[in-house]
Formats: sequence, C-alpha cells, structure tokens
Amino acid sequence: MLKFGIYKPSQLSDKSAFYGIFGDKKHFSIVLYDQIPYIENSEEIAQEILMQFSDTRGIYKRTYRKRFEEFDQNCLGIIQEKLSGKKIIVHDVGVSDARTSCDFYEKLQFFFPNCEFYASDCNPDVIILYKGTTIVVINEALEILETTMPPFVWNRNRIRKEKLLYPLNFFIQWIVENFISKKIVYEYQKGKISMKRLSLFCQRAKDLCNQSSHFHLLKHNVLDKSPVSDEFSVLRAMNVLNPALFSVQELTIAIDHFCSSLIEGGLFITGCNQDANSLVHGTIYQKKDFAFVPVYVSGKGSPLNEIILAKGQK
Ligand SMILES: C[S@@+](CC[C@H](N)C(=O)[O-])C[C@H]1O[C@@H](n2cnc3c(N)ncnc32)[C@H](O)[C@@H]1O
Repeated sequence: MLKFGIYKPSQLSDKSAFYGIFGDKKHFSIVLYDQIPYIENSEEIAQEILMQFSDTRGIYKRTYRKRFEEFDQNCLGIIQEKLSGKKIIVHDVGVSDARTSCDFYEKLQFFFPNCEFYASDCNPDVIILYKGTTIVVINEALEILETTMPPFVWNRNRIRKEKLLYPLNFFIQWIVENFISKKIVYEYQKGKISMKRLSLFCQRAKDLCNQSSHFHLLKHNVLDKSPVSDEFSVLRAMNVLNPALFSVQELTIAIDHFCSSLIEGGLFITGCNQDANSLVHGTIYQKKDFAFVPVYVSGKGSPLNEIILAKGQK
C-alpha cells in the first residue's frame, strides 16, 4: 500500500483528501507554508503543516494560540509591579513559530505601548531546493528534513505505525533520500541548484514585524550570547530549556547568558506546559546582584529551579 502527500495548494480545498487509506493523516509539505497566508482556514492549515514538520531531533515547530493565557496575565502583573517606570525590552527565546510571542506582545503592548519585543528561535527558517519536480528541504546544517517527489511527500514525522502500514513507502523513501535527495544537496553545495529560504514564523508574527517597528523576529541560539542587547528588562524562555534536550552544563551556560543580558532588577520568566491554557509549571525570577530570586511561582514552578538558583552560589 502506498501513501501519497499534500504538496499543491489545490489539494487543500478538500479536507476528505487529507487522509490516507487507513484513515491516517497524509504528510503535508512544508513548502505550502508560505503559499497559504490568506486562504480560507489558513491558520488551521498552517498548524496542520507545522504539526508534521520536525527537525532531525524530533522537535516540532508548532505552538498554540492562547497557550499561557493565565500565566501571561500574571507575568504582566509582575512586570507592572517590578518594572514600573523602566523601559520594557523583552527577549522571548526558542519561540518556534512565535504564536505565543504574539499573544504575549499584544497583552504587553496594551500597558506598555513603546515596549520593544524580540522573538527568536535557533532555526527559524529552512532552505528549499528545487530540481525538476523534486523538492528537498534542508536545514543550515544541510540535513534533509523533507523530500517531495510527486505524488509522495516524506518528512521526519515519526509515526511508528506508518512503517507497518506503508512499508513500501519507507523503502522508496530510503532509495530516494539516499540516491536523489543527497545528490541534490551536494549540487546545492556546488552552487548548481536554485534555492529559496522559508521562514517558519507564523503569518501573524510576520505581519506584526512588518507593521510595528517595536516587534522583531530573529535567529538566536540560547547557548550563544544575546545578539541584541545587554539591557533587556524581561527575558522569557517557555518550553525551551528542556532537560531532555540540553545537558546541565548547557543549561547553566544558557542561564548565565540570560542573566548577563538582563538589567539589574530585570525579570526572567521560564516554565513549561502542554496544550493551550494547560497549567504552567513556571517561575518568574528577578535579577539581584547577578543572581536570580524567585518572585512568582505557578504550578510546581520551573523544573530548572535548582540550576537557576545555583547561579548566585558560584
Ligand atoms: C516546544 S518549542 C516552544 C515554543 C514556544 N516558546 C512555546 O512555548 O510555545 C521549543 C523551541 O525551542 C527551540 N530551540 C531548541 N533548541 C534551541 C536553542 N539551542 N536555542 C534557541 N532555540 C532553541 C526549538 O527550535 C523549538 O522551536
């Protein structure tokens, strides 16, 4: 049995065609992501596309609108209380498609119309390579994330039962990736292939960035120093500092960078949760004498509390 993919905008009008023969979702090509901003249901389709698009570590780029409604409100209260009279400059790191950044910025802007907001991610875009009808999507490290060879779309989606349902698909994928996609990447390195960069930030974030001189999108790795300023008043890292993805040493490096890019008295907001509006286990810390002091706790607090508090004890 074979499973074909969704790779043309015309395939998006019929929802019943989104499913494979076993009732499972077809793979949507990420290439469609910037071809849908103003079609009907574009938000829903954009999320559908992102839900399937993972990097080589299995990290998905999809976030949810209204993910931290209550927590955001509480953060806003603490910002008003602790930073009144100060210029508000926020860096939100590891934002994926930046949906949750837009939510936070729009709330913040209501009370602080001149606040500067920077939303960043380590891999905010991908590179699309075209050769004939074959399209290969890679990251900066030249790793293959997706291949479209009509009517197939193969990505890094890790649905185990697919291997059992469509073994032939996996066999063809292996042949295509090893003998065709890799060759296309090689030709790209030699400058022989046309390419396009695709931003994975959501349309709302891109629109905000175009409409407001206060909202900025950028590429940044939390293991590096801040690319913008050492004068942030608020640093936010939600669902990023996952101990499954970073070693304790890396987490310590990231936290050191956060601390040095904040002003004295600035706030570090961090936590994790699941779906939209689920309970956030997070903490807001205030920087005092190059250490972090907790000023607000939600749920069980930040899972990194020990590492964060250890900063001041060095
Ligand atoms: C689960 S998402 C969280 C998105 C958003 N902050 C939220 O809570 O909805 C985690 C994001 O962290 C990003 N990320 C992973 N490692 C990173 C790093 N070293 N530096 C910056 N971002 C990173 C991933 O690209 C991914 O987009």
